[in-house]
Amino acid sequence: MAKKLWGGRFSKKTASLMDEFNASIEFDRKLYKHDILGSMAHAKMLAKQGILSEEDRDKIVTCLGEILKEIEAGEIEFSIEFEDIHMNIESILTDRIGDAGKRLHTARSRNDQVAVDIRMYLKDEIKDILELIDRLQNVVVDVADANKETVMPGYTHLQRAQPVTLAYYMMAYYQMFKRDASRFEDCYKRTDCLPLGCGALAGTTYNTDRQFLADELGFASLCENAMDAVSDRDFALEFLSNCSILMMHLSRFCEEMVVWSSAEFSFAEMDDAYSTGSSIMPQKKNPDIAELIRGKTGRTYGNMITLFTIMKSLTLAYNKDMQEDKPPVFDSAETVKACLEIFTDMLRTMTFKKENMEAAAKKGFTNATDAADYLVSKGLPFRECHEIIGKIVFECLNRGIAIEDLSLTELREFSPKFEEDIYEKIDIRSCIAAKKSYGSTSFESVDTMLKNAKEELKK
Ligand code: ARG
Repeated sequence: MAKKLWGGRFSKKTASLMDEFNASIEFDRKLYKHDILGSMAHAKMLAKQGILSEEDRDKIVTCLGEILKEIEAGEIEFSIEFEDIHMNIESILTDRIGDAGKRLHTARSRNDQVAVDIRMYLKDEIKDILELIDRLQNVVVDVADANKETVMPGYTHLQRAQPVTLAYYMMAYYQMFKRDASRFEDCYKRTDCLPLGCGALAGTTYNTDRQFLADELGFASLCENAMDAVSDRDFALEFLSNCSILMMHLSRFCEEMVVWSSAEFSFAEMDDAYSTGSSIMPQKKNPDIAELIRGKTGRTYGNMITLFTIMKSLTLAYNKDMQEDKPPVFDSAETVKACLEIFTDMLRTMTFKKENMEAAAKKGFTNATDAADYLVSKGLPFRECHEIIGKIVFECLNRGIAIEDLSLTELREFSPKFEEDIYEKIDIRSCIAAKKSYGSTSFESVDTMLKNAKEELKK
């Protein structure tokens, strides 16, 4: 069995069960690239400060470069005896270049090393996620653009409420994804703070240059307190929270697409390429992608709760509990990226059944509020108008007709204020066009939303 890098004060070997339980290499191997880049920067800094010779620095940097290539080519086998990615790489390095490798860990601890690795990893992931959100927002805008005239019922309590356009509906989701992007950008700022050079918890006695490390690794600022730097996982919690909120948005969207694809609604149909069949029922076409995204939302909530629970009682500074931060962070990053990617394709290829949407908007008394507003315009108080239209709806329900199917004489039995212009006022498109408040579903307002969105997306 290989000698532990920290074996000096021990007289016994670790139990093999202990090695297995303690190791994180099975999952933190994912950080190999960031770990190597961090170590290269550290070696350069040590040499610049005269702590390491230039010769040793060159040996370290060259050898780390070779190890990186070999890992990428799948030529390196890691071992649980060396616990984690940091010590696996250090031991391979030392096997190859001897004393120079042993000098690399001067003025550094695994505590600041792992902290910088996760931050670098998350910065990359956040950039990828932001790009995927941008792609999705573009598709949402395309669908909206193509459906500015598509009328559908808007719902509350999943009961038909007021007529809106599909474009307006899409632009509501656009706003949600815009907030998601802004949350990830915000989280990026706090992730972009360098913990490397903080040592185990108290800083180091060497004359290091942390600003050099930040410049070398592309960090915007330095963590100010070494103890906080090595024990902080707030940025990962923010990341996991942002993933959860984003997934909740995708899940709501998916739920709607599942409902809309049902025969009962029949508002939309998914493309064959993004649907599945049944092993027993030949007629079935199932919206599996939407259901899976809805389901995967659960695991991102779980990941968030996992890390919150890991962190909640930890004394300062580092505790080994924190090694458990990585599986949930990796899993949420992978899940969110996969869901964003496939959801975007699913939405892009969906067909919307415009006639069915419009027919539904015409059926559910979605113009009842506008009928009440009509009476308000004739001088009646709103509460009274509400009561009158309520009675009309009750009558129509009994007769199985819509408000506009009543003759003027019949309408006047409910209120003498009704005149011929009522029919134009409660036409479904007029109801939409008549909305005046900022941010409404009116055609004009949605045009503005689309214009703003296109400008935002250009940036
Ligand atoms: N594998 C460890 C982790 O992921 C690295 C840090 C270990 N630090 C320590 N003091 N044992 O958290």
